[in-house]
Amino acid sequence: MIEVQEDLVTEIEQLKRERNAVILAHNYEPGPVQDLADFVGDSLAMARWAERSPARTLVVAGVYFMAETAAILSPEKTVLIPDPSAGCSLAESITVEQLIEWKQQFPDAVVVSYVNTSAAVKALSDYCCTSSNAVKVVQQIDPEKAILFLPDFFLGSHVARQTGRKNIQVWMGECHVHAGIDAETLVATAHAHPGAEVLVHPECGCTTRALALPPEGVPTHVLSTDGMISHSHTSTAKSFIVATEIGLLHRLRKENPEKEFLAASEEALCPFMNRISVEKIRDGLRDLKFVVEVPEAIRQRALIPLERMVAIG
Ligand code: 13P
Ligand code: SF4
Repeated sequence: MIEVQEDLVTEIEQLKRERNAVILAHNYEPGPVQDLADFVGDSLAMARWAERSPARTLVVAGVYFMAETAAILSPEKTVLIPDPSAGCSLAESITVEQLIEWKQQFPDAVVVSYVNTSAAVKALSDYCCTSSNAVKVVQQIDPEKAILFLPDFFLGSHVARQTGRKNIQVWMGECHVHAGIDAETLVATAHAHPGAEVLVHPECGCTTRALALPPEGVPTHVLSTDGMISHSHTSTAKSFIVATEIGLLHRLRKENPEKEFLAASEEALCPFMNRISVEKIRDGLRDLKFVVEVPEAIRQRALIPLERMVAIG
């Protein structure tokens, strides 16, 4: 357990008051960053919380697209990211040029983009979604309309299965962290821990195998990160195998000290989320860096799919 110096925390609290700032962190952030934050949640909850916050400055302890989302939804606020190199391999798996070409092939299709995309890709989309509302968003769309779902192949396949839609094309992108959680290890861990529930993030390549886990009766749930947190509180199970980025274990264990949480893969660590640190948050607040801005024309167009998503909830 990494101890954060008390004087560093005091300095950050002082800077927050001076800057009228709040810190919001994603569930995958390192434990000390989560503990410092005013709000910790999944991508959807972060977007909603940032939009409602009365603070003038938002420090987004997460990856770049999350800070861009906050800047699109809250143009009147200053949005800071402690390390602008905190990207996302999934967001990078589709470019604006690729999306333009894909749309030309299916001119009448509705474009649904996961929030793990750049602002420019969102600006070419009709709806945004996150892992916690992707099924709900797709269910709102006219069943006669073809859908282009991007960029995550595994989430898109999960949505197609859940909605039963056949007219949905899915981009072949992936998150290298979730795609790397291998099904064999997950199945072996589940068999070694009878009685444990399996919680799987829909970005995982192992989702299909996890849902078909033999023997019959291994309870498996496909959930967003906040979905996993809620489920951990309501489930009567005492033990859980968690197939997602391991930063989530911090919150799961902290909020359920009497329950056991095992990582499906100890290697599932997002290098981008881990570029954020308490020291970089202090530096960012002190020097008012790194400001995240989205060009106004892109912001206005990207706001449309994001607002549709936030309204669906
Ligand atoms: P959620 O927190 O929305 O489930 O997203 C997972 C993720 O990979 C964010 O980068
Ligand atoms: Fe992107 Fe994957 Fe990291 Fe999430 S875990 S920020 S999807 S690289």
